[in-house]
Amino acid sequence: MPPFPPTKSFVLDRRRAFAVLGGGLAAVALPLTAAQAADPIEILPDAKAATGEITDIEIDSMAFKTPQVTIKSGQVVRWTNKEAGMAHNIHFRNGPAKTVKGAMGPMLNAGDAYAVKFIEPGVYNYICTPHSAVMKGKVTVE
Ligand code: CO
Repeated sequence: MPPFPPTKSFVLDRRRAFAVLGGGLAAVALPLTAAQAADPIEILPDAKAATGEITDIEIDSMAFKTPQVTIKSGQVVRWTNKEAGMAHNIHFRNGPAKTVKGAMGPMLNAGDAYAVKFIEPGVYNYICTPHSAVMKGKVTVE
């Protein structure tokens, strides 16, 4: 319990504690911002409207039809689900993209598409979350 009435030293201690806390939060916030700017992939908000160098991969019969592709940094891979009645997704569960927000993509119904721009060279293995035993793919970015 604080002394009552509050002593001068009690008030100063509270101010000092607040200043330390504030400085700590600022120090944590800066690296987080930097990490976001350096995300290795960019998930495009509108897959069907994606432009540039695009490698299209169809999803059908419980498989990524072109399971291994090699692209250059800055290019886009776009997946389109062609399988009626079966939803699939793209999930970077491990590897360089696993901590990116949205690394586990939404379930795609037939006709839906999902597009990712790959920024950082590397090997990006991915799965379909509910069918991970059989649905696997790999994007190699040079
Ligand atoms: Co699937």
